[in-house]
Amino acid sequence: MPVQAIRWEENGVTLIDQTQLPERLIYLTIDDYERLGLAIRRLEIRGAPAIGIAAAYGVLLGIKSFDNTSSKIVFFDQLERVIQYLKSTRPTAINLAWSLDRIRGVAQKNQDASIEKIKEKLLNEALAIHESDRLTCAHIGKYGAELLKDGMRVLTHCNAGALATGGIGTALGVIYTAVAAGKKIAVYADETRPLLQGSRITAWELQEAGIDVTLICDNMAAYLMQQGKVEIIIVGADRIARNGDTANKIGTYSLAVLAEKHQIPFYIAAPLSTFDFSIADGTEIPVEERAAAEITNGFGKRTAPVDIKVYNPAFDVTPFGLIKGFITEKGVIQPPFAENF
Ligand code: MRU
Repeated sequence: MPVQAIRWEENGVTLIDQTQLPERLIYLTIDDYERLGLAIRRLEIRGAPAIGIAAAYGVLLGIKSFDNTSSKIVFFDQLERVIQYLKSTRPTAINLAWSLDRIRGVAQKNQDASIEKIKEKLLNEALAIHESDRLTCAHIGKYGAELLKDGMRVLTHCNAGALATGGIGTALGVIYTAVAAGKKIAVYADETRPLLQGSRITAWELQEAGIDVTLICDNMAAYLMQQGKVEIIIVGADRIARNGDTANKIGTYSLAVLAEKHQIPFYIAAPLSTFDFSIADGTEIPVEERAAAEITNGFGKRTAPVDIKVYNPAFDVTPFGLIKGFITEKGVIQPPFAENF
């Protein structure tokens, strides 16, 4: 088992502060829901499934002061306020809303129970969301590993590993599982500008796990493909529309276009909790825009002129036609996606 991104402890959530990697492995224990929301916003915890898990635990933090002597109306008001606040922290990954809706559903189903009982049910639900993501990653790993032949070279982008999930990861879970089965797999990790999740997190996570990993800058991917050094591309996802259009970390779409040009299979590894069947296609996916400073102060110093105009979308949407398949916990879904989903 690689590193564990998040865990629930007696009235608190302990998580690895991912903004400190790879220099420092620091664990934060957070006992306040607003601070947890800030941790999601600041990417101290990040990755679609992991923020869903964190938010579910965050709800528990937001209602911890209530007991059976409290007013039920005030309790439910606070519950909704906390859910709305946590939902607002990041817009693109559907796992966040999915997990908070699950928590709200359990509260509604048990609305006639005592507050202590409701809190107990909500904690059990949050733990179940976490545990099921752990199992989901294992299944994704198992199905995905069948696609990897011994000796293959895989390219990945951003971080869809243990640090982004409740288990071994999605895209990286596939790699861990193939390696555990005795296959020799070499990984190229895209650096992933602007926040460098690929170099700070994926390269670190894979190196810690003893996987053969080579770091490249994002703009080197095309050259590697031209040289025949990439045989398969596997990335994660933040939201998948009904037709298969997929939002993932900015830079994913360009990899998919390059993959088509070089006839390299391009796979998305994602749990079913990342599918949003309420939207028809990728045009409906809200794409988070982040602060200009992430680009202008990239490497611990100013890297752009003062007052420069900046556009910083955190995600892009890959059209379904560029995707070879979706590796899910139920198996690999091939085109035609709308039908096969
Ligand atoms: O902004 P981030 O670091 O949260 O973006 C993460 C990604 O884009 C991941 O690829 C995605 O969430 C899948 S995680 C299994």
